[in-house]
Amino acid sequence: MSEVDERYELGSVEISRDEIKRRVVDLAADIEREYRGQEVTLTGVLKGAAIFLSDLAREIGTTVDVRMDFMAVSSYGNSATSSGVVKIIKDMDTFVDGKNIIVVEDIMDTGLTLAYLREILRTRNPKSLKTCVLLEKPERKKVDSEIEYRGFTIADVFVVGYGLDYAGKWRHLPDIWSLSKTRQ
Ligand code: IMP
Repeated sequence: MSEVDERYELGSVEISRDEIKRRVVDLAADIEREYRGQEVTLTGVLKGAAIFLSDLAREIGTTVDVRMDFMAVSSYGNSATSSGVVKIIKDMDTFVDGKNIIVVEDIMDTGLTLAYLREILRTRNPKSLKTCVLLEKPERKKVDSEIEYRGFTIADVFVVGYGLDYAGKWRHLPDIWSLSKTRQ
C-alpha cells in the first residue's frame, strides 16, 4: 500500500470476532500444553499485537506462569514497505537470559521485522525463543522466519482491526476487515 495519496475505507469482514476467538483459544491451548509448569514471557510488539496478546494471555490457564512484556519497534524507510532494519523504540523490561520467550506479533508480511527481532533476542541467550503471529501473508514473504504458533494465513490484502491499523485508524475494531479504495 504505497499510494499515499489514495484514500481507503472499510471493505468487508475477512475474519470475524468469533473465528478470532476460537483460534485464540486453540493457540492458548497449544502454548499451555508446551509450557505447563514453566514460566513464559509473552512479548508483544506494540502497537499492533496489544489486543491479540491480551486476549491470548487470558486464555492460558493457571498451569503456566505467564509473564507479559512489550517492545515497540519502527521500520526504517516508509511505513508501507518494510526495510527489514528495525529500530527498537521501546525495549523489553525482562532480562531475557535463560527465559522462555514468545514474541507475539499481529501480522507477518515480508517477515523482515520478525526475522530481525528474533536475531536481536537470540543474542540475549533465552532458554527458548518462539514466535506467535495472528496472521501470515505467505505470498509476501521475503525471508524465512520461523512461526511456531500461527493464527491464520491470509491472501495479499491489507487488513485492519483487532489491533491492526492503517495510518493509526481502525485498531479498535473487534473483527478483521479488508480495505477498499474510496470512490471520489
Ligand atoms: P514485515 O516486516 O513486512 O513482516 O512487517 C510487519 C509489519 O507490517 C506488521 O507488524 C504491521 O505493522 C505491518 N503490516 C503488514 N501488513 C499489514 C496489514 O495488512 N495491515 C496492517 N499492518 C500491516
